[in-house]
Parts: sequence; C-alpha cells; structure tokens
Amino acid sequence: MTGPITESPILSIRGLSKNFGGVRAVDDVSFDVMPGSIVGLIGPNGAGKTTTFNLISGRFSPSAGTLQMQGRSLLGLRPDQIAALGIARTFQGTRIFPNLSVAENVQIAALAGAKLGFWEDWLGLRAAREAQVQAQQRAQEILAWVGLSEFGAESAGSMAYAHQSLLGIALALAMRPKLMLLDEPFAGMNPGETARAAQMVRRIRGEGITVVLVEHDVPAVMRICDRIVVLDQGAKIAEGTPEEIRSNERVIEAYLGVDADADA
Ligand SMILES: Nc1ncnc2c1ncn2[C@@H]1O[C@H](COP(=O)(O)OP(=O)(O)OP(=O)(O)O)[C@@H](O)[C@H]1O
Ligand SMILES: [Mg+2]
Repeated sequence: MTGPITESPILSIRGLSKNFGGVRAVDDVSFDVMPGSIVGLIGPNGAGKTTTFNLISGRFSPSAGTLQMQGRSLLGLRPDQIAALGIARTFQGTRIFPNLSVAENVQIAALAGAKLGFWEDWLGLRAAREAQVQAQQRAQEILAWVGLSEFGAESAGSMAYAHQSLLGIALALAMRPKLMLLDEPFAGMNPGETARAAQMVRRIRGEGITVVLVEHDVPAVMRICDRIVVLDQGAKIAEGTPEEIRSNERVIEAYLGVDADADA
C-alpha cells in the first residue's frame, strides 16, 4: 500500500503549532503522508485534529512550523491557492448550500475546481457555457460515484445527515484533488452506512487520491487506514500502523480506554 522507501511524501508537516490565545491547539506536530495512502488522524475531543486541517488548508496560518505539499511550502498561501495545488477538504458537520439541489451543489464545486485551472483567464462566454455543461456532466458522474444520483434534484438540506456527509465528499471530489482531508465523514452514520462510506474512502484511494481521515469511529479507522497519527491536547502522542496504535499504552490511556464505542 505505501510505496517504495525512496518515495517522497505528498504532505510533510514539521513542528506545526497553533496557539489561540493561551490554548495550544496544535503543539509541535510532525508527520508525513505518503502518496496513495490513507492516514488516520485520531484523538479525543479538542485534540487539535480540525485545527490541523485548518492549517493544512490555509484557513489558519501556523504559529510555528512548516507544511509542504509535494515539496512545496504552503506557508503564506491562501486557501484557494492551496486548493489549486490539489488539496480538498470536507467540513466537520458538512458545509453545503442547503436550499440548492444536491446536483447544483456539486456543479458549483466542479465549476470552482475548473476555474482553479489555467483556463480561467482566457475563457470567453461560449467557453464559460461549455464549462457549465461540463460541470453538470461531472456533477452527475460524481453523484453516481458516491451513490447519490437519486437525490440529485432534492434540496441538499432536506437529505438525511449521512447523505449530506456523502455530498460533502462529492464536493471535495469535484475539485479533482490529489489529497483529501476528511473531517469526521462517518459521524451520524449507522454501521451499514459507515461500512459503505469506508468502502468509498478506499475507492477514493483507488482513484489515486491520498486521504487523511479524522474520525472518532476508531474501529472503522483501524480497518481502512495504512497509518494512524494520534493527537492529544494538541501534541502527537503516537504514530504507526493500526496494530501498533491499538496496543500503544499512551493511546489507550488518552483515548481508546475512554472510548466506549471503540469495540462497537
Ligand atoms: N478558532 C478557534 N479559536 C479559538 N480556539 C479554537 C479555535 N479552533 C479551535 N480552538 C481550540 O483548539 C483546540 C483544538 O480544537 P479542534 O477543533 O482542533 O479539536 P478536534 O480534535 O477537531 O476536536 P473534535 O473531535 O471535538 O472535533 C480546542 O481547545 C478548541 O477549543
Ligand atoms: Mg474537530
């Protein structure tokens, strides 16, 4: 699954810190994400997982440390510039246009993804219309891919929460990313929905997209991730294979031991 030892990371994080006033939300965190892997980022509430995503995606700038995507520094880049480099994220609790249809939501994301490319500047009106048609086609493809075709015409906000979460993944896919940051995609899903969504995360990797997965459903994380990074109170307390993490005493003490759902 992970490539040969000579391969270089798609994402490289070194000494990353973020302070909010007196709170050290992320505290000197370092890890690499190898291309084509699924990396789990787990830890208790408030551990700094979402903040780490906000730093990678450029929503916040770090208090200290470095972030590199394929060897290129992300420091000082705006969120749209980071997205243009191929990093897409989903949001904890989803972020959709609830009153637009499911298909329209994905079309907007597909258009935004197209605009991030080279043609933005020289598109005339006719080409803009073609881009619209292409975005519609692409939206249909992506909705089929995530299993939401039958909901295309419904308003996004009226769907069940599990389906809204899949829509969040569809929006990120529409950006044609190289790296996807998924923030609690299985939250609110029943076991069957979680199993299907986990299978989808594997299919995303099968498309050549690297995945970093924040999730409290630890058994699901253990099943699908190649490597796991564990945060607690902002700091990295462990990193390794699912087997290594499962038996790590610090992790059990900080997180797994108190997670009643861990064996569910
Ligand atoms: N914008 C912000 N301003 C101030 N403090 C923040 C901000 N965002 C996060 N924090 C704080 O940083 C810490 C880490 O929060 P974060 O949201 O990254 O945790 P998390 O690991 O994603 O938790 P959860 O599992 O509950 O989603 C918490 O103490 C939180 O209150
Ligand atoms: Mg969070």
